[in-house]
Amino acid sequence: MTTPQITPPQGAAHARLVGIGAYRPERVVTNDEICERIDSTDQWIRERSGIESRRFADPDVSVTDMAEAASREALERAELTGADIDAVIVATVTHPYQTPSSAALLAHRLDATPAAAFDISAACAGYCHGVGLASDMVRGGSARNVLVVGVEKLSDFTDPTDRSTAFIFGDGAGAVVIGPSDVPGIGPTLWGSDGSAWDVISQKHSWIDVRDHTTEWPALRMAGQSVFRWAVWQMAPVARKAMEAAGIEPGDLAAFIPHQANNRITDAMVKQLGLPEHVPVARDIVTTGNTSAASIPLAMHRMLDDGTVAPGGLALQIGFGAGLVYAAQVVVVP
Ligand SMILES: CC(C)(COP(=O)(O)OP(=O)(O)OC[C@H]1O[C@@H](n2cnc3c(N)ncnc32)[C@H](O)[C@@H]1OP(=O)(O)O)[C@@H](O)C(=O)NCCC(=O)NCCS
Repeated sequence: MTTPQITPPQGAAHARLVGIGAYRPERVVTNDEICERIDSTDQWIRERSGIESRRFADPDVSVTDMAEAASREALERAELTGADIDAVIVATVTHPYQTPSSAALLAHRLDATPAAAFDISAACAGYCHGVGLASDMVRGGSARNVLVVGVEKLSDFTDPTDRSTAFIFGDGAGAVVIGPSDVPGIGPTLWGSDGSAWDVISQKHSWIDVRDHTTEWPALRMAGQSVFRWAVWQMAPVARKAMEAAGIEPGDLAAFIPHQANNRITDAMVKQLGLPEHVPVARDIVTTGNTSAASIPLAMHRMLDDGTVAPGGLALQIGFGAGLVYAAQVVVVP
């Protein structure tokens, strides 16, 4: 007797970003307010990072609350409802429950149940990991529409007295719906990791240390210069490969949207990539700070809303951060 053949999954020809949404907390936190707790100045922070202010969410606003607000806008812009979503992916490192995921609760709140739902831990590269996964899921046949959210409440995991991190991070959420398409809307994802640098950005202590009361709250710590050098020298080649894999020249881009880590990192990448002057570059960091997984969708949302980029244009996006990990792809702006 021959073994019956399994029916293979049937996916869409292509995938694309269908709608985008954002949530920015109301409270604006100035550099001067940050400097009340660290030995620094507004001028130093502006010059070294480009940041003028960031937003912090109120204590009673959770990661899932912010994700929900961004997702509702993304669904509305996609002209879909929660019932149309087959999978929810939340990229975050600040959902304060080891388990269960933020994604499962988010799916429930959006009436997307029984959508598949899971969180991914890829820090500032989490959103681009989610976009790559969702694209493959739509084309591979495991989902028709996927909600991808990048969300962080970094104010909960930053030590306000640590001058190497206190001024960098902010809170917020960005979301996209990724669905089927007749034409390519998401290029190949270039991604990877280098765990030899596992400790250059990390939570200070493990939860076990916290349980055993041997340590204080495990806020994030960062060896800023090591991250800076890695990002400047290693990430531009990854972004270039993502363009080559998509068959796109720098001059074809309607936007360059790197992770909003530091404006000087962005400047160096723009130079190394040889981007023509007419390509707009995301600078959302100035009033948003570094929101890790949320930074790229927040920046794209702003560029769309202020008319810097039009729907249908090509955007090169690259996320990079703790792990160290990275992911990049060219996408068609929704
Ligand atoms: C954090 C960062 C802005 C620091 O800038 P930098 O130019 O590397 O600063 P350095 O650490 O070399 O310090 C330079 C000087 O500023 C001082 N300094 C450090 N932090 C300071 C602060 N918050 N305010 C004022 N001075 C500060 C240092 O003591 C040092 O002084 P010295 O020259 O007298 O020794 C930068 O390294 C960075 O952005 N790194 C990447 C961070 C990042 O993107 N993280 C997220 C990745 S996803």
